[in-house]
Amino acid sequence: MNKKQSIKISNAVIRRLPKYRRYLEDLLNKKIYRISSKDLSELIGFTASQIRQDLNNFGGFGQQGYGYNVKELYNEIGKILGLDSAYIVILVGVGNLGQALANYAHFYKTGFIVNAMFDINPKLIGLRINGVEVMDVEYLEEYLSQNDIDIGIICTNKESAQDIATRMCKGGVKGIWNFAPIDISVFGNTILESVHLSDSIHTLTYYINHPEDYNA
Ligand code: NAI
Repeated sequence: MNKKQSIKISNAVIRRLPKYRRYLEDLLNKKIYRISSKDLSELIGFTASQIRQDLNNFGGFGQQGYGYNVKELYNEIGKILGLDSAYIVILVGVGNLGQALANYAHFYKTGFIVNAMFDINPKLIGLRINGVEVMDVEYLEEYLSQNDIDIGIICTNKESAQDIATRMCKGGVKGIWNFAPIDISVFGNTILESVHLSDSIHTLTYYINHPEDYNA
């Protein structure tokens, strides 16, 4: 299944793909290898036509009267998301969250290889996490000039995040995964994806206080 030439896929479609893949993975774990479009739509919570339209962006999938081949769809969505490749990752800010990510085994199993970590705190520099030594952030530029990095994770405090992002962009990092609660900007060819966990919990607190507005 190839992306149709010259059509720009909407952000909303791309953001639904990981969810499709997650459900398909659960089905595979339950040894379910074929699913009707109706059952898949009930499971995921999108209409069958929505799922079909989304997948049609990539050339279509499923067969009338057969439904979906779970393994094939899972693999194809993985390829679309680029999960058939490994990614070289660096992490800047090796505090609570940085260490949790660096120790997250699933991350390594799914092809994200943390090659280097950087911090500014002398107490952390020299520490080894999962076999990778934390380096002084002073060496970030030098490291980036010698290594091709796919993903730079930012887990510093918010005051340092833009500076780190700028240095990553200059160093040719392809994508930044930012956890600092600030809207940073990127330039050049670098892509930015921010995870604002506090936005998510603040949405939750709104709905706890306004359950009448909640649409599951
Ligand atoms: P932390 O204070 O434990 O770790 C931050 C680390 O960044 C420290 O080790 C610090 O030395 C390092 N750092 C600061 N400036 C730096 C620089 N210029 N270069 C390199 N390293 C630098 O904080 P924590 O809890 O790990 O959070 C990290 C970021 O993620 C924060 O922005 C926080 O708001 C955000 N966050 C954390 C969550 C959590 O569950 N801990 C949840 C959501 C967001």
